[in-house]
Amino acid sequence: MSYILALDQGTTSSRAILFNAAGEVVCTAQEEFEQIFPHPGWVEHNANTIWSSQLSVMQAVVAEARSKHTMSLDAIAAIAITNQRETTVVWDRKTGLPIANAIVWQDRRTVDFCQSMREAGHAQLVADKTGLLIDSYFSATKIRWILDNVDGARVRAERGELAFGTIDTWLVWQLTNGKVHATDPSNASRSMLFNLRTLDWDQDLLDLFDIPRSLLPHIVPSSGILGHSEADLLGRSLPIASIIGDQQAATFGQACFKLGMAKNTYGTGCFMLMNTGDQAYPSKNRLLTTVGWQRQANQAATYCLEGSVFMGGATIQWLRDGLGIINRAGDVEALAASVPDTGDAYLVPAFTGLGAPDWDGRARGSLVGITRGTTKAHLARAALESIALQVAGVLGAMQKDSSIALSELRADGGACHNNLLMQMQADFSGVAVVRPKVTETTALGAAYLAGLATGVWSDTEQISSLWAVDRVFEPLMDEAARQNKIARWRQAVERSLGWAEN
Ligand code: G3P
Repeated sequence: MSYILALDQGTTSSRAILFNAAGEVVCTAQEEFEQIFPHPGWVEHNANTIWSSQLSVMQAVVAEARSKHTMSLDAIAAIAITNQRETTVVWDRKTGLPIANAIVWQDRRTVDFCQSMREAGHAQLVADKTGLLIDSYFSATKIRWILDNVDGARVRAERGELAFGTIDTWLVWQLTNGKVHATDPSNASRSMLFNLRTLDWDQDLLDLFDIPRSLLPHIVPSSGILGHSEADLLGRSLPIASIIGDQQAATFGQACFKLGMAKNTYGTGCFMLMNTGDQAYPSKNRLLTTVGWQRQANQAATYCLEGSVFMGGATIQWLRDGLGIINRAGDVEALAASVPDTGDAYLVPAFTGLGAPDWDGRARGSLVGITRGTTKAHLARAALESIALQVAGVLGAMQKDSSIALSELRADGGACHNNLLMQMQADFSGVAVVRPKVTETTALGAAYLAGLATGVWSDTEQISSLWAVDRVFEPLMDEAARQNKIARWRQAVERSLGWAEN
């Protein structure tokens, strides 16, 4: 038994990837699903569609493994789960049906409530306990919104009839037909209800956000068998042996096991995480402290500092779908490379507010410095630069927080194949950017955690030895030009802050 079936449920697509014991991709399937935008600033998913798309890709991967690779189901040691984090589902425990659409991490409907919580002076308590800033990004205020706005929800929650889960929990519930209601510390630490030090739900926070404890899942380690899938789903019951939020999974998949090692994932957003060992390091520069993973129950967790950028690859999708200036996301590199610079134009893609380090839910996008000579090529280049400049801002904050001068940044996620973007990243942040050979690090990290629990891999040293470099991008920009670029970017960002009226 030496294969792991990893489920990677992301913001825009559900994916399933089968890995072998060398950490290589054997087969993969992916399905996009609908993004629902009921009002400006709101983003929803249909949780049933999330499950049906996830089921369909896992069945497709197993069917392909059996037909093309003549692999028996017995060769799959376990299922691994990794997921978009914070996205909130509330469902009826009896029927298993969601009582509302899932509220997605990008959704900004609770911005005003978050502001009132900050104004009421709760920020320090929340930061001390959770490592988070009070923001609509996290699950707590989304759960509260559902309880207060869906007919009868609060009364039913108080009677213990409802369950809450992030997407990991929802998938586990579906895979086990409601037998297991569980999450892991990496996901729980994004709820704003979880105490980073006790590694448990925190009653003061539940009281503060007015959330009944009966809604919440059990917390299990990120690695370990927590249940079994129903036999009819894949033709055999399989152990479910890991749960981990997607960004923490990528950190594990990038083999960032030592203090100070960091990765950045270029997905819908960009998420940089640095391993800070068994210390939950409070940030002084508006980063988040989060659980990376917990390998075993009653053991210390590994913590990370995180900088979350909301618009990464989604900025390129906007060039494609919103503006129509490219046909495929991959076309952006050639278009951007057709001009030597942006002509001092800047795009600030604050389409759903700004995350780290500004944390402004009212920021909105802006395009500054355009002239009569600005073309779609300049815009494409400004879009790529905006991704690299946001990430560079986070990296600067991370270096200040940890007083560790990073020697390299490991890159992954779809847009890490864009060489121009990787070079911009190295230039604007002044560190080498390293792309590994296997860039499916999110699914791989979850697979490693499941494989460690089921004997496919023995330890993290073995996993580190499987990590290999594809290409290193060295910084080429001189320091004065780099500082100037960052200063101009900050001027552009200032123009976006606080724009939305509600
Ligand atoms: O915190 C949100 C993050 O987990 C979403 O990741 O890859 O779906 O953009 P992704």
